[in-house]
Amino acid sequence: IPVDPFDLVLFGATGDLAQRKILPGLYHRFEVGQMPEDARIIGTARSDMDDDGFRAQVRKSMKEFAPSFKKDVLDRFLARVEYVPVDALGENGWDKLAKSLRPDVVRAFYLSVGPKLFPGIAQRLHDHGLATPDSRIVVEKPFGHDLASAKALNEGLRACFEEHQIYRIDHYLGKETVQNLMALRFANSLFEPLWNATHVDHVQITVAETVGVEGRGAYYDQSGAMRDMVQNHLVQLLCLTAMEPPSTFSPNAVRNEKVKVIEALEPVASTDIARGQYRADKGGDGYVDHVGNPDSLTESYIALKVRVGNWRWAGVPFYLRTGKRLRARESEIAVFFRDPPHTIFPNVGPLHGNVLVIRLQPDEGITLRTTIKDPGPGGFRLTDVALDMSFAEALGADVRAQDAYERLVMDVIRGDQTLFMRGDEVEAAWAWVDPIIKGWEERGDRPSLYDQGSSGPEDALMLMHRDGRRWRQIGG
Ligand code: BG6
Repeated sequence: IPVDPFDLVLFGATGDLAQRKILPGLYHRFEVGQMPEDARIIGTARSDMDDDGFRAQVRKSMKEFAPSFKKDVLDRFLARVEYVPVDALGENGWDKLAKSLRPDVVRAFYLSVGPKLFPGIAQRLHDHGLATPDSRIVVEKPFGHDLASAKALNEGLRACFEEHQIYRIDHYLGKETVQNLMALRFANSLFEPLWNATHVDHVQITVAETVGVEGRGAYYDQSGAMRDMVQNHLVQLLCLTAMEPPSTFSPNAVRNEKVKVIEALEPVASTDIARGQYRADKGGDGYVDHVGNPDSLTESYIALKVRVGNWRWAGVPFYLRTGKRLRARESEIAVFFRDPPHTIFPNVGPLHGNVLVIRLQPDEGITLRTTIKDPGPGGFRLTDVALDMSFAEALGADVRAQDAYERLVMDVIRGDQTLFMRGDEVEAAWAWVDPIIKGWEERGDRPSLYDQGSSGPEDALMLMHRDGRRWRQIGG
């Protein structure tokens, strides 16, 4: 669906995220003809550069991050790209920027900058008359460091923009399979009747990464896996898995249901948390070397057992885990159904429940572990097979995997907030996270060390074993 003409102002345009994700994402949408020919992208940053200087930089990034680009299309795309130097914390450049914007098109301000700059930029957009009642402001994570800072950011933004104009990005919501989770649940009649404590034994949500924190030490060591991944991405995955069916697929209907899940999250006992830090080993330098802080108590891995205190999920644990430098890059949501209540096959080993696995990345798809009769000789025996659907195969290999950012940017232009976090939602997530972090800070808990390329620390395995359960293996 084509979108209306727009002026998109990209703050932090020379930064890593803009060059690696946002601009290539915009290019891809331009290439498929979704972006109107008169759309404009106005990069801003502190560096003094002209339009051509910025275009040259974007062209270079495109070679690296969108290597399949078509030269003639890129030339046409770059003709839509401009640059205005703006001092985000000073007054330089704002009036020029204001003059360059058209009055009659969608106006979006994308703040691909650190959160400290959000309120100041919002204020200047307002003071210099750039923000209209219909314009949109987009902000990146981290949205605060704790509840107090998130509230301050919300206040800063709401001083100049209405909630319906504020788009808080959690790029996990832009991932194809994350949205497919909603399609799976609410566009099929098979799953929803089983999606509750009566039939579900437990849920495992895994976001495993092979990357470390090299080059991001200053930010990461102040955050750790809980703030960097759980507060936002994993909580969002949990919400989409656990929420009640919204009555419509509209922004507030969906977000109301997500908020209810977050508000139902119970406090987590220290015994239900396992934190880890990757050590220096044959895989290379360890976490403390990467962040340059030998005494760091920050976790690069966390596993926790979470309970959603409501009727639907009473007694069903949600086990969340995420970590860096693990064995494989693999994200999935696995719903473990209860064992069959009775067996008529007494001599063929214990029966176990079905497992529905929604693979978020890589190799996006859905697998259902099913028990069937083993066809081999030797009498009636059972075996497990996977009903397996890979989206790439099912939908055709030529469907280019879209990056989360390109969809989200287009949603901003369309004015669709469904895949963005509402202010109260972010605050509710921090309100749940804060006491957990405070607990381990007060106790001075040390993360356990784990080997690079492993599945995480021993304690995380114990967290499951204790409950008579096992994590799914990371990396097949
Ligand atoms: C970011 C985190 O939000 O998400 C990073 O700050 C993490 O630490 C990244 O690596 C993971 O995103 P993706 O899309 O690669 O799974």
